[in-house]
Amino acid sequence: MKEETYPFVMRCLPYETYALAPCISAETQLYHHDRLYKGYVDRLNGALANYPALHGLSLRELLKWPENLPEAIRTAVVRNGGGVYNHQLYFDSMQPFCMEQDPKGVLLEAIIRDFGSLRDFRELIKETAEGQFASGYGWLVLDADGTMKIMATANQDVPDLKRYIPLLNVDVWEHAYYLQYQNRRVDYLNAWFRLINWRKVACRYEEAYAEVEEKRLLRGEGDLPTVFEGEASVEDSWLSEAEETEFFFVP
Ligand SMILES: [Fe+2]
Repeated sequence: MKEETYPFVMRCLPYETYALAPCISAETQLYHHDRLYKGYVDRLNGALANYPALHGLSLRELLKWPENLPEAIRTAVVRNGGGVYNHQLYFDSMQPFCMEQDPKGVLLEAIIRDFGSLRDFRELIKETAEGQFASGYGWLVLDADGTMKIMATANQDVPDLKRYIPLLNVDVWEHAYYLQYQNRRVDYLNAWFRLINWRKVACRYEEAYAEVEEKRLLRGEGDLPTVFEGEASVEDSWLSEAEETEFFFVP
C-alpha cells in the first residue's frame, strides 16, 4: 500500500475519544489529538508547502534521511514530521482495555527470545519510558539485526529509521498524562500498558521482520535469529492480583 504523502492529513482516532477511559480520559485525548497532534500536521504541511520536490515523499522517507532535506526547513520537518509520525503510531497502538488480550504467537515468542519473559519486557519498557528525562517517547523497535530493542528518544525525535523499524511507542510528554496523573508518570505508564493493541503490534512485527530478512538476504548476510519452536505461552499474568484489582480504580 502506498504510504501517505504531502499534504498530510490528521488521522481520526481508531476508537471513540472517551474509549480509553479510565486509563486515559476523554479530556486528555481530545486535547492531545485534536489540538496538539493537529498542530504538528499543520506545521509540517506549512514547512513543506513551498518545496514541491518533497511532496512525493512519505513521512518515513522524510524522517529517514533528514540530511537530504533543505537546510531552511530541516529543523521544522524533523520536529513536526516527528510529531506527526510519533503521535500516529501512539494513538494507533492503543485500544479500549480488554482483559483477555495478551501478545500471542510469533510476537510473544520474539518477546521471550529478546527480553526473557513478558514480565521482564513490561518492566524494561516502563522503566525506559519513565526514565526518559523531560519530554520524549519510549519505544519497541525491530533492529536491522532481527532482534527487538527498547529505547527512549527525546522531544519528537524518532529512532534512527535507517536501522530501526518502530513497532510500538508511548508518549511521555506531560501533555499525554498531566491533566489526569499530574507528575505520576509511572501511574500513566501502568495504565497505558493495559491499552496496548497487541494485534497491531504483531502485524507490524511480522511485516518488519520480513522487510529486515529480505534486506539481509539481498546483502548475502546470515540467517536472522529465529523464535522458539512450538507455541509460547503466557506463564505469568501481566498484572499481579493486586494490580488487577486496582485497575478499575485508576483515576
Ligand atoms: Fe503527544
